[in-house]
Amino acid sequence: MSSEEYASWVSSWLPRLLPILKPAASVYICGDWRSSGVIQSILERHLVIQNRITWEREKGRGAKRNWKNCSEDIWFCTVSKDFFFNADAVSLKRRVIAPYKDASGKPKDWDQTKNGDFRLTCPSNLWTDLTVPFWSMAENTDHPTQKPEKLLAKVILASSREGDFVFDPFLGSGTTSVVARKLGRLYCGVEIDAEYCCLAEKRLAIAEADNTIQGYSEGVFWERNSLAYQNGNARTGNVATDQLDLSLREEMDRYAK
Ligand SMILES: C[S@@+](CC[C@H](N)C(=O)[O-])C[C@H]1O[C@@H](n2cnc3c(N)ncnc32)[C@H](O)[C@@H]1O
Repeated sequence: MSSEEYASWVSSWLPRLLPILKPAASVYICGDWRSSGVIQSILERHLVIQNRITWEREKGRGAKRNWKNCSEDIWFCTVSKDFFFNADAVSLKRRVIAPYKDASGKPKDWDQTKNGDFRLTCPSNLWTDLTVPFWSMAENTDHPTQKPEKLLAKVILASSREGDFVFDPFLGSGTTSVVARKLGRLYCGVEIDAEYCCLAEKRLAIAEADNTIQGYSEGVFWERNSLAYQNGNARTGNVATDQLDLSLREEMDRYAK
């Protein structure tokens, strides 16, 4: 599809959705490097663009004649300048590399815990803590472009309160609705493919009994490969291989083959 064709397709549905938005609503639209510029040019005609997030999509084939395509942009827009944004709800918990202390010897902006030294950092517009769902992750389905639940959790927690309404017109395997449900939001999604609708319904049924989101616990987002730290099993600075989280284990399995 050419850029012109893509622009005309986006223009065929986006303006028609705008009237259903509340005055303080936020809109997030994701695209790769080919579509991102077109999306921006259409969005700036209709909404207030607040930021462009880039997230690292770890998975993907390397190419011999080009750079490996492993990132996507998410355009964050609002209907007006009056909108809700909760940065505290999306802090990232990182292991401390440089454990600076103040004059009295106390940790400077970080916490010493029995599971290691951590710093809570402000969320930036570069997201490198996500893992594309792998076959062995509970959230994984056969949908070819399924987004990580952790990604949707960041968007939903930052831009809505409990009880707010979340709408996704291209629901796919249901990630947006599943995460909205897990986080106590109301939700509605539209999906054209009957099989993907079934995947979404199945995930929603599972979410009723299990509201965990991999990589998000205790009200914070954890950096990649920190499951051992989250479980309190890791020795500081030395993670045993049987305690690595699934994403890194998958990586290791792939390289071992
Ligand atoms: C990029 S995928 C969304 C993936 C989703 N975020 C997830 O995590 O599974 C886009 C989805 O939009 C669906 N779709 C395409 N055209 C549509 C339309 N006109 N109405 C509703 N859904 C549509 C596709 O079938 C596809 O599942």
